[in-house]
Amino acid sequence: RTVYLNGQWLPEEDAKVSIFDRGFLFADAIYEVTGVVGGKLLEYEGHSARLQRSTKELGITCPLSPEALLEVHREIVRRNDLNEGLIYLQISRGTADRDFAYPVDSKPTLTLFTQAKAVLDNPKAKTGISVALLPDQRWARRDIKTVQLLYPSMAKMEAAAKGADDAWLVEDGFITEASAATAHIISKDGKLITRPLSHAILHGITRASVLDIAQEAGIDYEERAFTPDEAKDAAEAFITSATNFVLPVVAIDGQNVGDGTPGPLTLEMRELYIEKKL
Ligand code: PDD
Repeated sequence: RTVYLNGQWLPEEDAKVSIFDRGFLFADAIYEVTGVVGGKLLEYEGHSARLQRSTKELGITCPLSPEALLEVHREIVRRNDLNEGLIYLQISRGTADRDFAYPVDSKPTLTLFTQAKAVLDNPKAKTGISVALLPDQRWARRDIKTVQLLYPSMAKMEAAAKGADDAWLVEDGFITEASAATAHIISKDGKLITRPLSHAILHGITRASVLDIAQEAGIDYEERAFTPDEAKDAAEAFITSATNFVLPVVAIDGQNVGDGTPGPLTLEMRELYIEKKL
């Protein structure tokens, strides 16, 4: 692969970052994942806006303008001849001698790489996934897309050890989100229920599009937190993210959701999303 590092295009084995980079030492960095299908960037505007927000919240200055960054995204697709998969972008605060207090004038480290992956033809879209409920032990500013991903990684491993595909995280008796996706349910009266935006969850770009699509399709939705019991008792459940689009959840802690197969409204939302965004 050809990767991008601070203005340079390099073979991946030549792209090196200092061990003093604060992304490495303190997880002092933010990231974005943009889906690519047919060489086209998906939902780029949303990812660009969230990136600006994350850097602003942490006081990191993005080294490129939004226009230049878009051009880098397009160029990395071209250079890697990427048809389908994702673009990963990371901006760290940069290098500094190890100290909890950070310099205000460090030079951020900007990296991008691609991952080729079949995202459209996902076998899990037909079967659905199972999730295990685990406590949400992440920090309290999940609305900032930082690279502090140790707990989500551990939760994913623990879910796998329980025989589940992913984790749904629980805090104060309510579902927050999945390890790296937004959690949604559909009630027995056909209403889409999703947690409102706050510091407790990442403000999913796919989530926002799905709510727009629901509105257009005349599917009622309600933004409110829901409990594990309500989720287990729901008609349907699904997750959304940049690379999963809309993916059915068919079991929660070993209990079937609905009849244990992908729900009709979930599949309709997936179709509409693909139709509209790809
Ligand atoms: N994850 N919630 C969390 C905690 C996430 O990490 C993600 C995305 C989402 C969905 O956001 P979006 O719809 O904007 O992709 C929700 C990315 C894909 C990742 O970490 O790989």
